[in-house]
Amino acid sequence: MSPLPNELNLALVRAEFPALASGYTFLDNAGGSQVLARVADRVRDYLLTSSVQLGASYAESVAAGERVIAARRSVAQLVNAAHEDEVVMGSATTSLMFLFTQALLPGIRPGDEIIVTNTDHEANIGAWTRLEKAGAVIRFWNVDLDSLALDLDELQKLLGPRTRWVAMTHASNILGTVNPVAKVAELVHAAGARLLVDAVAYAPHRLVDVQASGADAYVFSFYKVFGPHFAVLWGRRDMLLALPSLNHYFIGPDVLPYKLQPGNVNYELSYGCIGIADYLCAMGTAHGATGSPRQLMQAAFELFERHEDRLAERLLAYLRGRAGVRIIGLPVQTPGARVPTISFTVKGRPSESIVRHLDRFDIGIRFGDFYAKRLIEALGLQGQGGVVRVSIAHYNTAEEIDRLVRHLDEAIGAAP
Ligand SMILES: Cc1ncc(COP(=O)(O)O)c(C=O)c1O
Repeated sequence: MSPLPNELNLALVRAEFPALASGYTFLDNAGGSQVLARVADRVRDYLLTSSVQLGASYAESVAAGERVIAARRSVAQLVNAAHEDEVVMGSATTSLMFLFTQALLPGIRPGDEIIVTNTDHEANIGAWTRLEKAGAVIRFWNVDLDSLALDLDELQKLLGPRTRWVAMTHASNILGTVNPVAKVAELVHAAGARLLVDAVAYAPHRLVDVQASGADAYVFSFYKVFGPHFAVLWGRRDMLLALPSLNHYFIGPDVLPYKLQPGNVNYELSYGCIGIADYLCAMGTAHGATGSPRQLMQAAFELFERHEDRLAERLLAYLRGRAGVRIIGLPVQTPGARVPTISFTVKGRPSESIVRHLDRFDIGIRFGDFYAKRLIEALGLQGQGGVVRVSIAHYNTAEEIDRLVRHLDEAIGAAP
């Protein structure tokens, strides 16, 4: 394969996202990304041409069914699932997590241990704590307050013969740090336990590879990855097969993935999601990549990552040099170490006051705990209204970051 160009073709990228034509600066992408025209077009097309119920023998129903199956195939390829039926679709990461832990519930014995982190979004904590009613013991793998990292030695101390599951995030939606999930998976498996990874904050920035992650289950939402409000939970086939059915009594435990998808999946949103993989392949090709769809998607993400790293470093360099600013996360953009989700606080200033100033200039950022409430509490930042978070996507430009920095500088003003 010929080497990729240094620069991402931003004109090409931005033309794929109609909302960007408004000129608004979207820097709350970890909250929700802009949607590809390819996705929206497919959703519309499905609704207007395929609105029939699946599973009948008439031609329209068969054709619609093939579209929904093609969607599952596309998502399976996007995440690199070994089997298409390992892909469970649902409305949101939070609801898939509740479903998943509901399926685990009958297998939980009093004293079984589950390890969660205090850096996660509550979606990957609260669903697990519900297993306490079956006698599960929840243990917290807490962030190191100096390094802001999850220390593997700490995990080792928590793992034991009763550990059943470890639940963690691939990248924190506040810190942005990419966690070494494959290493964690080795430790977890050596202890005889299983690993579930929340990749909501990671999937917009790297090509997901569930097999390379080492995880047993892996979940994220498409509305952060340029798609609709829809989500996927991948699970290792043997693990999924061992779970009971959450569906009707006649849909047994061997019927994957339907046993974990009570009710119809959203057909049109499923079909829309094909647009995500389409886009990634098209971007790889447009930048000179060749090879399999996964290779094309990988090339696209390599270009996205380099571009995002440059933008992130531009903002981090400003924040590092500004008196009174504390970056909550890795302060330097080291390749591979973090996604461009950048949080900070300003000494003596409520985080809201910084964000309100930016609101006036058509720049969308936000403040708060981002439902990673336990992390904000551990850092003692609730009193300040949480952090200010700027979350960059690959379609953002250097000019947008410069404009942001200019107005941030006004907002921070003469901080004490
Ligand atoms: C890291 C992380 N996990 C989980 C979620 C919840 O996703 P959903 O809104 O699809 O339930 C979010 C949402 O912001 C998130 O940032």
